[in-house]
Amino acid sequence: MRYWIMVLSVIDYRKSIASLWIYIISLTFALLTITAEIMASEAENSNAVHYGAYLARIGNCMGCHTTKGGQPFAGGRRLSTSFGVFITPNITPDKETGIGLWNQQDFWQALHQGRSRDGRLLYPAFPYTEYTKVARQDADAIFAYLQSLPPVSQTNPSHDIFFPYNSESLLAVWRALYFKEGVYEPERSKSAAWNRGAYLAQGLGHCSACHTTRNALGASQNETLTGGQIMGMNWYAPSLFSHLEAGSGNWEIDEIVALLTTGITKRAVTSGPMATVVRQSLQYLSQEDALALATYLKSLTENDTSSVPGVHFLVTTGSFRKHLELGEKIYQEYCQACHGADGKGTPGTYPALDGNRGVVMDSPLNVIRSVLNGGYPPTTAGNSRPYGMPPFQQILRNEEVALVVSYIRNAWGNRASLVRALDVDRSKGGDD
Ligand code: HEC
Ligand code: HEC
Ligand code: HEC
Repeated sequence: MRYWIMVLSVIDYRKSIASLWIYIISLTFALLTITAEIMASEAENSNAVHYGAYLARIGNCMGCHTTKGGQPFAGGRRLSTSFGVFITPNITPDKETGIGLWNQQDFWQALHQGRSRDGRLLYPAFPYTEYTKVARQDADAIFAYLQSLPPVSQTNPSHDIFFPYNSESLLAVWRALYFKEGVYEPERSKSAAWNRGAYLAQGLGHCSACHTTRNALGASQNETLTGGQIMGMNWYAPSLFSHLEAGSGNWEIDEIVALLTTGITKRAVTSGPMATVVRQSLQYLSQEDALALATYLKSLTENDTSSVPGVHFLVTTGSFRKHLELGEKIYQEYCQACHGADGKGTPGTYPALDGNRGVVMDSPLNVIRSVLNGGYPPTTAGNSRPYGMPPFQQILRNEEVALVVSYIRNAWGNRASLVRALDVDRSKGGDD
């Protein structure tokens, strides 16, 4: 365009008819070039919006920033933690109640440094401790997408955080200790797919927000993804490093992809918060990104020497056998119709319990919760009307739940610790 402006500025169209013509032709070209440039920048912006929408899915921004039945991204969702209740803010482009006055730089500062537009330090209930790994270009695309949404005027209540966690100086200390700012750095020795998978898992996917042990201050420990109880939720997010938990080293890549994008495979099913992650976020992974994430997850168990457990102990004592026999009766009455006498279930419909790593995992928390709450595998494009499991909370007493869970942990090829009524009682309550 500059070229045409230059041409126009040197022509004196009053001089002759010819120069007038040249002037008119140049003007036409100038206008055409301007139009083309505007169209190109609009196309670029619409590409960014499109890609930003995809990235926002992978980051599951909507999952936290939307209440049940509420306006998407308008916030207001309550997140209970041991430090109090956080209420998610409105991130639609409304100028008064949302982020309508924000620019790209403000948004980058929030996602990358955990600082609001006015400089306030943000609480890590917003997983910026992971999002800090997101590249600038991707952050800009997410911002372009959020700004393209219809603004929603909605003021949300403020957080209700317990003393002393409500102090900004304590938060500053916390950040100094536990928050490391920085975009993901690719590992040169690894493939492009592995690096893409690591980028997604460690950054936008924020897997470690759940799959990590936390200390008393809610900070993740040095080793991430090694499993832990989720903050404020009565669920255990298993280790992605261990074959005994959710490690997938001995799975085929295709099966890992299927688990991530459909939530159910012949040997596993995602439940509770993980089913939500698949439903709201991972099912939308592109084929390429799903492969990349699976490649990364598969590599995590490389150094794991634990193998699928053999028989830990011989079932000899009478009381032990009695316990399991009682559990088996309950199983036959309430569970067998779906999960089968052989515990093999029906592939793609009712998960197998035999050989299911989730069932024999050290922590019995999730198995107990599955029995108490029932549930559905996530509804996904590949599994649009999933078969569900009824909740048994009102049907079985704590002792009975303990018996049947002990049974499925020790029936067929399964071997794991027994469960007590007390464990069942402790597993009740908490958010899903
Ligand atoms: C696990 C829940 C959770 C997820 C997932 C999440 N957020 Fe948030 N977000 C929060 C909470 C809680 C806050 C409030 C933090 C505070 O006030 O200190 C917040 C704050 C923010 C803020 C700052 C708003 C302000 O007014 O200062 C922005 C911007 C934001 N989130 C954008 C996003 C984007 C973009 C994504 C997806 C990539 C996302 N969030 C995903 C929970 C979440
Ligand atoms: C909101 C918390 C949360 C987030 C975020 C989360 N997970 Fe999970 N995940 C869980 C819980 C709880 C379980 C155990 C229940 C289950 O097995 O489905 C689980 C289980 C799993 C399993 C084993 C599933 C099975 O049944 O064998 C895999 C694999 C997994 N997660 C991978 C991931 C990856 C990869 C990410 C990041 C892209 C991620 N998770 C993010 C909570 C979470
Ligand atoms: C009507 C069929 C049905 C009945 C009856 C049933 N289940 Fe289920 N079960 C399912 C389905 C479907 C799922 C997957 C649910 C999900 O993804 O949340 C499931 C999931 C489970 C899981 C979680 C497995 C995993 O990998 O996370 C356990 C454990 C379980 N059932 C045990 C039982 C026990 C014990 C009983 C009897 C007390 C029982 N089920 C009765 C259909 C059933």
